[in-house]
Formats: sequence, structure tokens, C-alpha cells
Amino acid sequence: MPRLDPDDIPARYDDKSRGPRLQRTLAEAGVAARRVCEQLILDGEVEVNGTIVDTLPAFVDPERDRITVQGRPIKRRSRKLYIMLNKPTHTVTTTADEPDLDRRTVLDLVDHPTADRLFPVGRLDFDTTGLILLTNDGELANKLTHPRFGVVKTYHAVVKGRLSDEDAAELARGIYLAERKAGRTEGASRTARVEVRVHKRDRDRTVLELKLREGRNRQVRRMLAAVGCPVKKLERVAMGPVKLKGLPRGAWRELSRGEIDALRRAITRGKGDAEKAEPKRAPVRDQGEVRSRVDKRRMKNAVARAGKPERTRRPRRDDGGSRR
Ligand code: URA
Repeated sequence: MPRLDPDDIPARYDDKSRGPRLQRTLAEAGVAARRVCEQLILDGEVEVNGTIVDTLPAFVDPERDRITVQGRPIKRRSRKLYIMLNKPTHTVTTTADEPDLDRRTVLDLVDHPTADRLFPVGRLDFDTTGLILLTNDGELANKLTHPRFGVVKTYHAVVKGRLSDEDAAELARGIYLAERKAGRTEGASRTARVEVRVHKRDRDRTVLELKLREGRNRQVRRMLAAVGCPVKKLERVAMGPVKLKGLPRGAWRELSRGEIDALRRAITRGKGDAEKAEPKRAPVRDQGEVRSRVDKRRMKNAVARAGKPERTRRPRRDDGGSRR
């Protein structure tokens, strides 16, 4: 049997795996609103690689396919890039450090030809290691970090002290953390639901996994300090369905098409989950909404902790008993 040249195989525009829908690609290229683009397609005004495509659904690869509307090529989208870096310690999550500090940045580690157009999705502390995404897709970056979309970030932490089951349950329910704006503490609010799994407890250290749906400043470190177990080591191992596994420290790679699609699905799914799991926020000024005395006390403690070094409570030695 003679082999077919791949270029001679007729393209199937109803094949979902080609990429986004044709009308979306047209709308994103500024042709018209999505509904109008649908009509242009149905009217036979749109060609893909020289073939009229007038049935829907139709899927295209915006990077490769030649698409014209009424004979005129549409503007090409700039290629969206999604890179995963395994961040080492002593690296700042920014595109450029302050000139007088001049520390290594996450971008210094990514020798990609278009690295200058990339920015980090969210932030990891100077000493936190692990998965950080870099992209030039502002929309996806916003959704991945906004608590409304509830995309889960998974961390592995090694902490000082023996974290009890009670403490783990308290972390899971939510901890009152101070809210700071423009360098000032403005009350406290409770963190959203967290999943906590203790992997290992030794006499003076605990290894655990935490799954968070929001990303407040130094959230994991502050939460663990609040229950008397300051963080010794912190690593982010997953963002939604995308896992760090297999990527050496300091190395980077592009995400696969499957990983990008999975991230998009996590955003859509997470939106529903996040709404169900709305954090019980104690509004900063309106203390009338903080219902119980316990809540009020916890808020006060969080505000008092704010401004102090994180190790405010000595780690407990035992496992049981009440802390407060
Ligand atoms: N929480 C922290 O405390 N630090 C990080 O780097 C990420 C989450």
C-alpha cells in the first residue's frame, strides 16, 4: 500500500483535538462577536487552509491553520506559552528583582526564546520550592490564582513539632489570619477550607500535605505557625491537575496540550466547588458578623500575631489535649 503524505490527508474540522472552536478563534482575532462569527461560518464566508468550512462544530489550530474570512486572512494570535518550573530556594518569584537586591529570579532559570514575555502565575516565597507556572496568558493566570475559581494548590510541608489531629482539624476548618493592606493590619479573616493529610509524625517534626483553594501571602507558613508548628521546608507539588513529579529542581518544561486543557477544566469545575466552599470570612470592620465569642477571640489573636515573628507559640510535644 502506498503511504499517504500527511499533507494529503484531508483535515477533519469536526475533530475536537485540533484546538479551539472556529468561531472562538475568529472572535479572539477581532473579526466580530462569537455569534456573528458563527453566522459567517454557516454562510460559507470562512475558509480554513483553502477549504470552505460551513458546518459547526468546527475546530482549528490557530497557530498552524490558514484562516480567511471573505478572502482576508485573520490576524494570528501570538502563541500562548505555558511553562512549569521547579523553583529552587533562594529565588524570587518576579520578573525582575529590585535593583539594589539583585537576587536570582524565576525567569533567570528559564532559557526559553520568549522568556521576556512570560510572567509567573502567583507567587512562591523566596525559600519555597516546587511548581511555579510561567505564561503570557493573562486570562488563564488570573483565573488560576483567583479564589473564586478555587483551583487547588497542593503543598508538602515539613514542620517543627508534632502536629496533633486536633491541630490538623483546626487547619482544615480554617484559621484566622490577619489581613494587611498597604502595610497596615486591618482585622482578620478565616482561611477557606483546606484539606490536610499528615504523612509522618516524629517526636519533633511532622510531614504533611495541604490542599488550598486560595493563596494569601505566606498562607501555609502563617497557618502552621498559628498552630505552633513553624515550617522548616515547603514545596508546592501540584497546581490543579498539573503535577511537578519528574521535573528536577531548577529545571523547566512546557506544559503539554493535555495539561493545559486539564487546567482549563479545573477552572470551570473549581468555580462551582469554590462557591460551595466559600470561606467563612469575618469581615474586617464589621465585627457584628463574627458570630461566636470563639470567633472573636480567634480574630483578636490573629491580629495580635500579625506584626510579630511567626514562631509565637512553642511547638507542643504531645499529641493530645487542648491547646487553648
Ligand atoms: N504559602 C506559603 O506560606 N508560602 C508559599 O510560598 C506558598 C504558599
